[in-house]
Amino acid sequence: MPKKIRLGILGGGGDSLIGVLHRVASHINDNYQIVSAVFNPDFEQSLAFARQIDVPTNRIYKDFDTMVEEEMKLPPEQRVQVCSIQTPNFLHFPMAKKLLDNGFHVICEKPMTTTLQEAKILQEAHRKSGTVFVLTHTYTGYPMVREMREMIKAGALGKIHKVDASYYQGWINPVIHDPEVRKTVWRLDPKKAGISSCMGDIGVHAFNLIEYTTGLKINSVLCDFNYLYDDNQMDVDGTVLIRMGKHIKGLIRSSQVATGEENALTINIYGEKAGFRWEQENPNFLYMTSDTEALKVLKPGHSYNSKLSLAGTKLPPGHPEGIFDSMANIYLGAARAIRGEEYNDGEFPTMLDGVRGMNFIEATVNSHKGGNIWVDLE
Ligand SMILES: NC(=O)c1ccc[n+]([C@@H]2O[C@H](COP(=O)([O-])OP(=O)(O)OC[C@H]3O[C@@H](n4cnc5c(N)ncnc54)[C@H](O)[C@@H]3O)[C@@H](O)[C@H]2O)c1
Repeated sequence: MPKKIRLGILGGGGDSLIGVLHRVASHINDNYQIVSAVFNPDFEQSLAFARQIDVPTNRIYKDFDTMVEEEMKLPPEQRVQVCSIQTPNFLHFPMAKKLLDNGFHVICEKPMTTTLQEAKILQEAHRKSGTVFVLTHTYTGYPMVREMREMIKAGALGKIHKVDASYYQGWINPVIHDPEVRKTVWRLDPKKAGISSCMGDIGVHAFNLIEYTTGLKINSVLCDFNYLYDDNQMDVDGTVLIRMGKHIKGLIRSSQVATGEENALTINIYGEKAGFRWEQENPNFLYMTSDTEALKVLKPGHSYNSKLSLAGTKLPPGHPEGIFDSMANIYLGAARAIRGEEYNDGEFPTMLDGVRGMNFIEATVNSHKGGNIWVDLE
């Protein structure tokens, strides 16, 4: 068994939503050990949380800059190898840039940055660094998402002509109607979230899922946002028409005010031979539709699954694996890349996915603000 990879955590403290997903995921395949962190901007809270989860406090730092400075003083065999960034969006770019410039591997939450310009600067820093960069579009780790990618690549749907992906949540509905409550949410603050709330937070997952599964690139978008109130600067709902080719079209729908919805990410992909339907809230069922055959339901862990899909299951079929396992699959791919081992294409989203995501978010904002016009992605 190779030694565990020394992992540093930024954000993801006891007060966070996503921290537990990363911590559990990093442990699932026994590849990582948390050796250092800034869990929280408040040093005392960071220390308290480290004690709570039994991480030694000698390498819990008061802030990110101190962490890099102190870790760089350590011999390479003790130093953090990879840092996982789980902070609000505006900190992703400065943290990732400094980490890459100092030779650390990076696992980063989405959206990768707050602007496309930052994303391109980060891409250049990554190119120079020669390190591994992994973007945690969590849903690409699900076995049946991987199965869609591999089956589409093998021609199971034939030529694709229509894609419809949506990500509906309702959690901002109770928040948005009171201007005072609204101010307490960082996702509605452009200084912390970036240029978009809904499209940047969840629409970008739907975008990534389309490009990941179909292998197609979205060329242009036409977007209509809903801000709900004139004094709210951030989109909380958006509908996007997408073009992937002259005869390949579709849409991305995302909402944070879809009352009562939880994490309803769904994708429908239609080709000349067959179609796929997949729903994040029931991730182990992949529906295959046909004009001539009965509906097929594909499941993970079977001999008929692709190599990439099977690399993401640990137990015999019928033992449901879920969101923790999906993120763990991304951490597993990252571990292979960090160790210089062979890994399958598609085991984790990359820097390019981050740049594409920021290109998409910016294009939707420009489309809406330009009067609902078609905007090309680069
Ligand atoms: N991949 C996914 O499916 C998914 C799901 C949810 C959130 N996210 C992303 O994860 C990130 C965090 O989201 P969240 O919902 O967990 O946010 P959150 O507000 O719940 O948690 C943010 C954490 O960062 C810490 N933090 C803030 N400033 C910091 C600083 N300067 N130094 C160190 N720590 C700091 C906070 O104390 C907190 O622990 C966002 O970028 C979000 O888009 C991704």
